[in-house]
Amino acid sequence: MLQEKRITIAVDGYSSCGKSTLAKALAKSLGYVFIDSGAMYRGVTLYCMRQQLIQHSKPQVDLIEKELHNIRLTFEFNEASASSDLFLNGENVEKLIRMPDVAANVSKIATIKSVRHKLVEEQRAIGQDGGIVMDGRDIGSVVFPDAELKLFVTAAPEIRAQRRKKELEEKGVIISLDEVIANLMERDMIDSTRAESPLIQVEDAIVIDTTELTREEQLLKALELVEAAACRS
Ligand code: DC
Repeated sequence: MLQEKRITIAVDGYSSCGKSTLAKALAKSLGYVFIDSGAMYRGVTLYCMRQQLIQHSKPQVDLIEKELHNIRLTFEFNEASASSDLFLNGENVEKLIRMPDVAANVSKIATIKSVRHKLVEEQRAIGQDGGIVMDGRDIGSVVFPDAELKLFVTAAPEIRAQRRKKELEEKGVIISLDEVIANLMERDMIDSTRAESPLIQVEDAIVIDTTELTREEQLLKALELVEAAACRS
């Protein structure tokens, strides 16, 4: 589809609702840049774990703040997976940041104000010229409040858990459905109740419920919304 204006598309929602899959497909179809902002929070979390800045499951906020200037996150396109890999200080950490130990800590790291401040600034810099699809929790509310299109992706809880389990199994991680559900519930709670930019559905976001839609149907629906948004802007 030819778009005259390269708009900004914010895709928010809870974990494992299909946000990234939809955002990635949308970006590919439009020839836009796709940024998985959750990967950036995961990258900071991995750094903190490696530097022992999380003690007994508690992030050492003061120490983490002092370390932030040493954390350099970049994305590089990976031809094989047709998406961008996250690099932490020059090291490809795309696989490591998806592991359950990082997933178990990331929501806590994402509550830290200085971490959010750093990453929001970097996300805005990446998206300053439009032509971007960014997925996360605060993209429509904080990162790009003026985005021409804001999507809020939802899915039934059991579908989310099954998708997450399958995703992990494809990466060689064997985990029970109960463990997956517990992690998703814990993350939902932390993400939506934290003081700093909690996950909310902003008024001007359009909901896409992926429970009963195939990937193709989700993409078609999103593309229609893009066309309408591009015409309005
Ligand atoms: O989308 P994800 O599951 O990879 O995100 C990992 C964590 O990062 C999730 O618990 C919430 C947090 N996050 C956030 O607070 N803000 C964002 N824009 C993206 C992710």
